[in-house]
Amino acid sequence: NLPLLNVNAQENFNYDEAKVGTYLLPSLLQTPDGKKITSSTQWNNLQRPALLKLFADNVYGRLPGKPRGLHFKVNLEDKAALGGKAILKQITIYFTPADTGASMDVLLYLPKQVKGPVPVFAGLNFKGNHTVHTDPQIKITKRWVADDKNAGITGNRANENTRGLQASRWVVEEIIARGYGLATAYYGDLEPDHPEGWQTGIRSQLSKSLQIQPNEWGAIGAWAWGMSRMMDYFETDPAINAKKVALQGHSRIGKAALWAGANDTRFAMVISNESGEGGAALARRWYGETVARLNSAFPHWFSPNYKKFNDKPNELPVDQHQLLALIAPRPLYVASAQEDQWSDPKGEFLSAQAALPAYQLFAKKVIHQNEMPGLNQPVGETVRYHNRSGKHDVTLYDWQQYLDFADKHFGNKQ
Ligand code: GCU
Repeated sequence: NLPLLNVNAQENFNYDEAKVGTYLLPSLLQTPDGKKITSSTQWNNLQRPALLKLFADNVYGRLPGKPRGLHFKVNLEDKAALGGKAILKQITIYFTPADTGASMDVLLYLPKQVKGPVPVFAGLNFKGNHTVHTDPQIKITKRWVADDKNAGITGNRANENTRGLQASRWVVEEIIARGYGLATAYYGDLEPDHPEGWQTGIRSQLSKSLQIQPNEWGAIGAWAWGMSRMMDYFETDPAINAKKVALQGHSRIGKAALWAGANDTRFAMVISNESGEGGAALARRWYGETVARLNSAFPHWFSPNYKKFNDKPNELPVDQHQLLALIAPRPLYVASAQEDQWSDPKGEFLSAQAALPAYQLFAKKVIHQNEMPGLNQPVGETVRYHNRSGKHDVTLYDWQQYLDFADKHFGNKQ
């Protein structure tokens, strides 16, 4: 028997492979109205828009576009950060014409040793930009943060002691040494992660009277939308190669990264780190977390429509392999961790495998694998997968795989 890996998991989950049963995935190469897809042109013109619409209407909710008035301000630039190895910039992205309205703060590190526009890894963080590195210059977020007794966070406010708290998840020095930039922003800038968070987040700030429609975006949508706004900034910064941006996300932020990458083809690569249910893992495979459990524990993450499928994921018009396929033909990395059975490593692997036919339409090199690979043995070409030993986390091992993957697909040589 596998241990209970999530303390909150009391119901609506399954760790018994024998109970998974059989399921039939919705077809990847047949449109919802029954047309066969046999070419990349048909995929782009018919299946891609049809699937995006199904995911928006039934799972994540609809995303608004780029707001009028979007603008950027560089607040700090240090050309000798990290002991002279990097350039540090802190940028505020304003979503309205005023410098007082809704905004997000981006922390950007660029490698100094590389000439010309550099490829960048981008992603949202869980606890504030100042937790990504101990660097005292990083602005401490003033926004709502989740209380954390162990870290001394009370009253939902971040403090000096939490600098570098999540540094092991970002390995800034390693990324810089390999010739990549790193851009990150706090996900709470877009929406505080609790059921009432939307009231102070961008979902309500951008629309004067928020009426919750059945296909209204949720917090995952808000975080995904913020990732695209980061991309809007990258396109204006000559130090960044906006054609080589790899979007990375862990867990709930991994779900958002996949949704952002599916919608916004400007992201040249997408990396899902243990995104699990509602992310890379198949919904129809009843293992680990389930749709019902996801929607009851986190009612604010998805669209209201998604809740209709709580007890009948088999009736969803989509499954998550189709979300992965929406990244095609761009390189996609799906990573699991063995002790994170909650995210269903096997369901993530099978989902990545089931997405391959979309990549084949583009004549991309893919490797079909019937068996789960061994621990710490990445497999695949354009769609790559690993199951790391250890817990639900982002580690140096994970990053080393992502850096190798990016080197290969972005042609980055050191
Ligand atoms: C919970 C949730 C998962 C999510 C994870 C995380 O475990 O059930 O769906 O991915 O939190 O974001 O760490």
